[in-house]
Amino acid sequence: MCGIVGYLGEKDAYQIIVKGLQRLEYRGYDSAGVALINGGVNLYKCKGKVSDLIEHASGKDKSGTAGIGHTRWATHGEPNDVNAHPHKSMSGNLALIHNGIIENYASVKASLVEKGFKFQSETDTEVLVNFIESIYIEESVDLPEAVRKALNHVVGAYAIALIDKNNPNQLIVAKKSSPLVVGVGEGEFYLASDATPIIEYTKNVLYLEDEEIAVLTKGEEMRLFNIKKENKTPYIQELEMQLEAIEKGGYDHFMLKEIYEQPRSIEDSMRGRILLKKGIVNLGGIADYEQKLINAKRIIIVACGTSWHAGLVAEYLFEDYARVPVEVEYASEFRYRNPVLYENDIVIAISQSGETADTLAAIDLAKSKGATVLGVCNVVGSSISRATHGGSYTHAGPEIGVASTKAFTAQITVLTLMALHVAQKKGTMPASRFRALLHELAGVPKLVEKCFEEDEKIQTISARFKDAKNFLYLGRGYSFPVALEGALKLKEISYIHAEGYPAAEMKHGPIALIDEEMPVVVVANQGPSYEKVVSNIQEVKARKGIVIAIVTEGDVDVKAMADYTIEIPKIDESLIPFLSVIPQQLLSYHIAVMRECNVDQPRNLAKSVTVE
Ligand code: F6R
Repeated sequence: MCGIVGYLGEKDAYQIIVKGLQRLEYRGYDSAGVALINGGVNLYKCKGKVSDLIEHASGKDKSGTAGIGHTRWATHGEPNDVNAHPHKSMSGNLALIHNGIIENYASVKASLVEKGFKFQSETDTEVLVNFIESIYIEESVDLPEAVRKALNHVVGAYAIALIDKNNPNQLIVAKKSSPLVVGVGEGEFYLASDATPIIEYTKNVLYLEDEEIAVLTKGEEMRLFNIKKENKTPYIQELEMQLEAIEKGGYDHFMLKEIYEQPRSIEDSMRGRILLKKGIVNLGGIADYEQKLINAKRIIIVACGTSWHAGLVAEYLFEDYARVPVEVEYASEFRYRNPVLYENDIVIAISQSGETADTLAAIDLAKSKGATVLGVCNVVGSSISRATHGGSYTHAGPEIGVASTKAFTAQITVLTLMALHVAQKKGTMPASRFRALLHELAGVPKLVEKCFEEDEKIQTISARFKDAKNFLYLGRGYSFPVALEGALKLKEISYIHAEGYPAAEMKHGPIALIDEEMPVVVVANQGPSYEKVVSNIQEVKARKGIVIAIVTEGDVDVKAMADYTIEIPKIDESLIPFLSVIPQQLLSYHIAVMRECNVDQPRNLAKSVTVE
């Protein structure tokens, strides 16, 4: 969590940094701050969003061509002006921004206090900047060496950027388990937690590896080494990302833009991977592990949040298509419970950001036990994509809204392709069904487009239920994970309590909650469990619950029972999640807007969860 930005060159650093922070605000928005070198180190920071920072800094002298900035998701210390980054060292010469957690900060702080260091904030970051300063002064080493020594001692995760009043032409950056990208311009450098603040200025970037330190000096080549003091050659790559992909493009919110982008993002996830004429799936990123995947006796999926829901859909897909048992694990649980893993297990890690700390730790654990780990990631070059043996990118484009939408449908696109591929290779599916499914999958973007035709109706339903206190989401089979996802979307952006349940489980407890106040969203598409879901709807209606049913177009039976119906096109049961999730995304979006919630930056959340 937290977003960090920096600039070193000839341009106005403040403008570049603040614009970058706005692009990274999805990573955290408790407080924001900038430090500029101009004679001394000038700090501008306050509690609140980047817009609050802009107001706070207005009218002040913000000149300077080198600086760093931070938007915070609080870990150590409540969000307030003092705890906001950047943090200065006691002498006032150094200023540091940090994304991550220094786990042994308390013992480091105690030793610094003994030496007479005084602290203003409760943050681990202020401890780190003073620790660097203490080494710098006591050991008479240069600043990059002091940083290296300090990082050898600290335990935890960090992406840091450091400036020094006495060396205005230099910026020092380093990372471990938190992302950091350096943009390389003409005699100038940019840095950020992801590439979105950089692409406007340069497409040439370096993704720092864990435990690497880069010394950026104006007008010179960067110097790269690791905390073991080994010199490294920077691998500068060219970004393919376009600027338009990270702007709102006329939509009120990124979330709405990303919902409406899904026909294109699903198409992008499939591009070059469905060869209809040949009747095959082509997934280059897993080619080296294909045989292992085909021979796997078991697949274990690790993920968090929405990605975990995509994992549940994949469980149904792999079992149904490829007849291989699948376990879907919360990465945060898996990593701590001594799981049984065998060398011929395949672990699939799913993550939009590719930076989720628990998922990364689960991957490390699986690898240490000899399992082959494949990734399904959205962010190219992210930590998870690099930590896995192989994998397939989802190619959904940058997802900026904190609530995940297009990443989910892109993830299930890739997972459907994987499951189909394994099924074909294993011969667990008749060739005719394989071909039919491949065709239907290729047609999904058009059907998603059709789902948007119900948007007006969904807005009317949203207006009716925007003040509800609770919601229940029900689904069976492939629609059960979608019920969980629908409930999560509503909770996180509208702050209405919602629960997702397998429809038939309702009678084992949640049915007690149903009364005339309770809206129940039911996925009631036609398919093998249609009749059963119809019975579940009757159970809700018998208790005066209000049913909002997502039905297949042309449905008659559920329409006669439900209070509201939203239609989705007909599709194979296994591909239903692509369509049934769309009205649920729109419902939560509209309800949140009507409740005047901050849709793109819901409270307490951050886009990439890089802490445990
Ligand atoms: C929900 C949401 C989160 C993420 C979760 C995992 O809308 O965005 O639940 O899905 O934090 O993040 P990734 O997929 O980046 O690992």
